[in-house]
Amino acid sequence: WLAVADRPRSVLLAAPRSFCAGVDRAIEVVEQALAQRGSPVYVRKQIVHNTHVVNDLRARGAVFVEELAEVPDGACVVFSAHGVSPAVRADAARRGLAVIDATCPLVTKVHVEARRYAARGDTVVLIGHAGHEEVDGTLGEAPEHTVLVQSAAEVADLRVDDPARVSYLTQTTLAVDETAEVVAALRARFPKLRGPASEDICYATTNRQDALDAIAAESDLVLVVGSTNSSNSRRLVELAHRRDTSAYLIDDVADIRPEWLAGVSVVGLTAGASAPPGLVDEVVAALGGLGSVTVTERETTRETIRFSLPSAVRPPGARTP
Ligand code: F3S
Repeated sequence: WLAVADRPRSVLLAAPRSFCAGVDRAIEVVEQALAQRGSPVYVRKQIVHNTHVVNDLRARGAVFVEELAEVPDGACVVFSAHGVSPAVRADAARRGLAVIDATCPLVTKVHVEARRYAARGDTVVLIGHAGHEEVDGTLGEAPEHTVLVQSAAEVADLRVDDPARVSYLTQTTLAVDETAEVVAALRARFPKLRGPASEDICYATTNRQDALDAIAAESDLVLVVGSTNSSNSRRLVELAHRRDTSAYLIDDVADIRPEWLAGVSVVGLTAGASAPPGLVDEVVAALGGLGSVTVTERETTRETIRFSLPSAVRPPGARTP
């Protein structure tokens, strides 16, 4: 570390960064469930894709499981922010589990669209990443009528029943520019393609990409705070790479390797929507420990969106935004 304490540095902080409204809400759902019902509260999958958030809630009494089969009959289970397929809901109902649904309302919007498009007889093309929990949940709405596409290159191989009846949806945390290319390829193949009235890529994903784009080119190095399974965080690293800036995903300050900082004068810093803001402060403090640091925040937009808690955990008298 001493070898890189060699120069004054500036830190460009992208804003918005870190928690979105859906993550804030999902964490509060688990906190309220613990406060109101006591431990254990079971949570199916990671409530949000961040190891720090999960470890913190686990220490406070949340029990994270991969599948409902691990939840005792009659117990309380929280569904994560990424949403679940109807088959999981049906399984929970059959088991008599008390469900508290922390699915982000912007993921629910995509599920509603999937049902509507399938009901009107369309083949639904879901643009997203195979194996991601959100994609598994959305695919489950109309599995017989939905096909997954991961890139523009895959569009050529798509098979649909009727090229005049094709609709598309997207995962909420994709790269805005790459997704536009996939949609353009779909539209070129299916001129009557229909899509959502407003973008499925959510406001938080879009804002974090725009904010990073405003600082990436002038940074010598970009650090993105987020866990490796966080889709929107990984898209931020890729965006910096597309701007020819070296970039790394770090779970926290301990992941920073000294050699990354050698010769670096300007550090761009951001965090994915599931990463706690305190972890960014720790990175700034660590960089300050290496010598003189000037911190500048570049805010591209201000986020004011809040989601109300599900009624199952809403404290009496709580205001809805
Ligand atoms: Fe929801 Fe977007 Fe956050 S879908 S959980 S607001 S990243």
